[in-house]
Amino acid sequence: MLIAPSILSADFGNLACDVKAICDAGCDFVHVDVMDGHFVPNLTIGPVVVESVAKVATKPLDIHLMVENNSFFVDLFAPLKPKYISFHIEEERHPHRVIQKIRSLGISPAITLNPHTPPEAVEFLLADVDMVLLMSVNPGFGGQKFIPSVLERAKRLKRLIEYHNPNCLIEVDGGVNDQNIQSLKTAGVDIVVAGSYVFGNKEGYKHAIDSLKI
Ligand code: DX5
Ligand code: ZN
Repeated sequence: MLIAPSILSADFGNLACDVKAICDAGCDFVHVDVMDGHFVPNLTIGPVVVESVAKVATKPLDIHLMVENNSFFVDLFAPLKPKYISFHIEEERHPHRVIQKIRSLGISPAITLNPHTPPEAVEFLLADVDMVLLMSVNPGFGGQKFIPSVLERAKRLKRLIEYHNPNCLIEVDGGVNDQNIQSLKTAGVDIVVAGSYVFGNKEGYKHAIDSLKI
């Protein structure tokens, strides 16, 4: 299992320290939640702050857009050279065009699905993306409760991926902890995002990350 701690739960007063610490603790990606106050009822960070994150991160960035104007935000974040940029299928009329744009900028395109969106909604995009992100909470906030139906969605998505693009990875985001990690692994998930579980862990970041690496 690959681990992408979400910096939404980091200490924003000491963001550089926290980003360095999760990288030193062995995470695989740094998950960055970009919210615009329109697609989701919350606002987070823009390219100025993420540039500072990129400077100190020793692991690749995984940028999760939760915004209305995907193409505009892709242009804002592409110069930071993240590994992934993902955007929500629910908010895009022309997802294939956005995927092509992300790819043309040298970044791995990924598509995100809200908890109610069936995997079949992206079946004919799978050949063109490197990762699908399944939300296991409603996007907008850290620290929410895991929605277990993501497990069935992951299994169905895995079957579609095996047919259309076996190299495509499955990422799950929201409410991930040491209690549900085994069931996510069994369902075929490759990457988990974990915010409050990692940053709120009393035994430290390394302990938290190690406990998810199964
Ligand atoms: C929610 C974000 C998540 C969030 C996860 O909209 O996409 O990345 O930070 O936080 P936890 O792990 O606390 O649910
Ligand atoms: Zn996220």
